[in-house]
Amino acid sequence: MAPSIVDLQIPQEAKGIHSNEGTAPRQAPRFTPGYTVVEEGKATGYEYEHLKPCFPDVTWPPLEEVPYSDKGLLGDPEYKDLLAEATDVFDYTPKIGTEIHGVNLKTLTNAQKNDLARLISYRGVVFFRGQKDFQVEDQLELGRYWGTLHKHATTSVVKGLDEVHSVYYDKNTLDQRALFAPAHLWHADATYEIQPPSYTLLIILRGPPRGAGGDTIWSSQYAAYDVLSTPMQTYLESLTALHTSEEQAADSRAAGRPARREAVTTEHPMVRTHPVTGWKSLFVNPGFVKQIVGVPKMESDAILKYLYDIIVTTQELHLRFSWEEHTVAIWDNRICTHTGTFGFAPQVRHLLRVTTQGERPVFDPNSKSQEEDLNEKTGRAPVDKNGARRSNYND
Ligand SMILES: [Fe+2]
Repeated sequence: MAPSIVDLQIPQEAKGIHSNEGTAPRQAPRFTPGYTVVEEGKATGYEYEHLKPCFPDVTWPPLEEVPYSDKGLLGDPEYKDLLAEATDVFDYTPKIGTEIHGVNLKTLTNAQKNDLARLISYRGVVFFRGQKDFQVEDQLELGRYWGTLHKHATTSVVKGLDEVHSVYYDKNTLDQRALFAPAHLWHADATYEIQPPSYTLLIILRGPPRGAGGDTIWSSQYAAYDVLSTPMQTYLESLTALHTSEEQAADSRAAGRPARREAVTTEHPMVRTHPVTGWKSLFVNPGFVKQIVGVPKMESDAILKYLYDIIVTTQELHLRFSWEEHTVAIWDNRICTHTGTFGFAPQVRHLLRVTTQGERPVFDPNSKSQEEDLNEKTGRAPVDKNGARRSNYND
């Protein structure tokens, strides 16, 4: 029988290396592969109990269009204000993700907030570690600076804070494998809204310890567009797709929880142009798109499956992030899909999400792709996507 948490005997000192400087020989770390201690039952209780999820039984009217002007347009092209305090800044991959050290999110000036919006627009997702000062009120304030905050119709919220989605798992949470196919979990937040979210701020309060899982993965929709052939790009640029919250609303009601707004279905372009970068991105996701408009269902299903295969399986689009407490991730929901990863039970994983309503998606036929624009600016040759060439593969 495979070992379980019950029959593994883990001594307390197994949690780390003990330094007995000057008096005793160094003790080797105790290590049980595949097992991490679950910290629970502290005498003082859970410090974030007040930020746990609730589902207020209230009804809200449909969302109405609100003005939106992207603050990233005011940012400095070299991010001078944001990076003035930085001690380190680095990209995760050429396509997606940047991490900044030395910047305190709680004390950002407006100029720094503008630079940050611009950087997120280009890089998809930006990470800040060690943000212990950055409280939920600060998270709300930064989101509000960028635009009108989105109130989700069905997800759990923090009591009294309707604009804060509380993501919470513990040993009592249903196994996600029972509920979802992993590919279906890839999504961008609330793309069925008339103005789908732009900047999403996610902070982790309590997460599985190092090595215990619970990572989040992002996939670049700029880069997904660049995977496509030119004829496929042209075809998709001519089309729209239906995004719907019907499944979320039905699931919520089936679970005995309220849908605070009626479900909506909205038609959006399949390729959109970002207002700050001017770059094209693919704008579909497995979570919320149900049909391409104007084509037979068989064609819609086949094309969407192909696009989802690109989003879910193309490694160069991806960034996988291992959380540590007090880390903040801020991403551009217009140009990224994302998914949590599971298999961390029975650990606690508790995050707070705030997101800003963006512009109504538009496609500009004169816009460029990320790769096209950067190749032109750097003098690099365009990528040859002809699959009939001989090739090789890499480890
Ligand atoms: Fe999400």
